[in-house]
Amino acid sequence: MPRLRFNAFSMNCVSHIHHGQWVRPDTRQLDYTDLDAWVELAQILERGKFDALFLADVVGTYASYGGSRDAAVEEGLQTPVNDPSLLIPAMALATENLGFAFTQSILQEHPFNFARRLSTLDHLTKGRVGWNIVTSYLPDAARNLGYGGLPSHEERYRRAEEYMQVIYKLLEGSWEEDAVVRDLERGVYADPAKIHDIDHRGEFFPDVPGPHLAEPSPQRTPVLFQAGTSEWGRDFAARNAEAIFIIASTHDAARLVIEDIRGRAAAVGREPENIVFFLGMSIIVGGTEADALAKAADLDGTASARGYAAHTGGGMGVDLAGIDLDTPIGELDDYNTQGIARSMIDSAPDQTWTFGDLLANRAMNRIVGTPEQIADELESWLEVGVGGINMPYYTTPGTFRDFVDGAVPELQRRGLMQSSYSEGTLREKLADGGAEARLPESHPGGRTRRERLGAPAVA
Ligand SMILES: Cc1cc2nc3c(=O)[nH]c(=O)nc-3n(C[C@H](O)[C@H](O)[C@H](O)COP(=O)(O)O)c2cc1C
Repeated sequence: MPRLRFNAFSMNCVSHIHHGQWVRPDTRQLDYTDLDAWVELAQILERGKFDALFLADVVGTYASYGGSRDAAVEEGLQTPVNDPSLLIPAMALATENLGFAFTQSILQEHPFNFARRLSTLDHLTKGRVGWNIVTSYLPDAARNLGYGGLPSHEERYRRAEEYMQVIYKLLEGSWEEDAVVRDLERGVYADPAKIHDIDHRGEFFPDVPGPHLAEPSPQRTPVLFQAGTSEWGRDFAARNAEAIFIIASTHDAARLVIEDIRGRAAAVGREPENIVFFLGMSIIVGGTEADALAKAADLDGTASARGYAAHTGGGMGVDLAGIDLDTPIGELDDYNTQGIARSMIDSAPDQTWTFGDLLANRAMNRIVGTPEQIADELESWLEVGVGGINMPYYTTPGTFRDFVDGAVPELQRRGLMQSSYSEGTLREKLADGGAEARLPESHPGGRTRRERLGAPAVA
């Protein structure tokens, strides 16, 4: 039986997915500006053999609820938010095997600068870094960055494709494998003949001559994550992503997305079976079912329905402030619940839920139970092609510590979770040794390397 990979899902902010919990005494969300808290988390995850810590990011505010960002600010809902990538070196120093994937939007920074940051992080982590490529959905992010407003979906993804070309040319196609000679006797660090300009000319990045400023790092290109769900997003993921985040409430829904994206990947010459699909899943574990249910009820007691509503609406660009959060959805007035909200209500599995319950459930699938129940449920997703779990916190590091101490031994006993790390870089570890440190030549990044350098896949 194949194993599942596990990512802990967090963000350099107070409240990421499950809102309202930061006020509790048993969470360190208020310590998000302290490296101590992040190092503690990384060490817990490595003790539990998590594959990676995955850090989300946004570069704007959730400003649609009631027409303002006030709810987001009061809830600590991804505002304030600090740079995720700066946390990584400290956590890498305190661990040996855990991977670190972070999010950055292609709207955010010129690819020439960003490529250097990727290389630097890959060097400093000895090849344990991943990048979640996003195209942004918050309008003020794009305004602040000088785009006037959010470019259309189509334009964002066209820009993303060109952004990736520049990144691949820099990371894969500029420095030959043996460019760095470190010849102490001759006093020659690198061979100028083996460092190439990239001469990129394009629509969004008209002139990027290169060369790349960093020497080749262990993975060259970090492991590429993505989470597009639109047509453009899926095509982009199929071409570029090695790991894809999905949110699906049923097995059939997951199967459909996975088959669709695998089909698109095969059509562009990639090896579709090597793409790992990570399913979002909240997990609450207890020694007995009653313990787990009590823990869930306690967490639900501090949940903020308004936080979920501001988050969901902000992500979709709709204002959900007019909808009563506490009335059973079956009794809600049609007048206030048209469009997206109405379709969410109509497809809810339980019409006695309040709108707040619905949003909390929509935020991610959830399993509440004993280690055995959790293992049974997780195992069932393997059949539809899910290869990993992306697990957000309610409290941090509490949710992860409970999982490591409670559920991980059972998952490892069943072979559903790794008991030790594979050697090598994050790319090699995620593939249990079945991949090289570098992108394969079936991937556009690997292809760029071959075309530009004619180099073999590995040094
Ligand atoms: C699990 C998961 C995590 C995501 N994390 C981020 C994130 O950190 N930052 C961000 O801007 N978008 C994030 N997204 C949004 C996606 O990048 C993407 O914009 C969204 O799924 C809509 O797809 P589309 O861009 O194809 O319309 C995430 C999506 C999912 C499913």
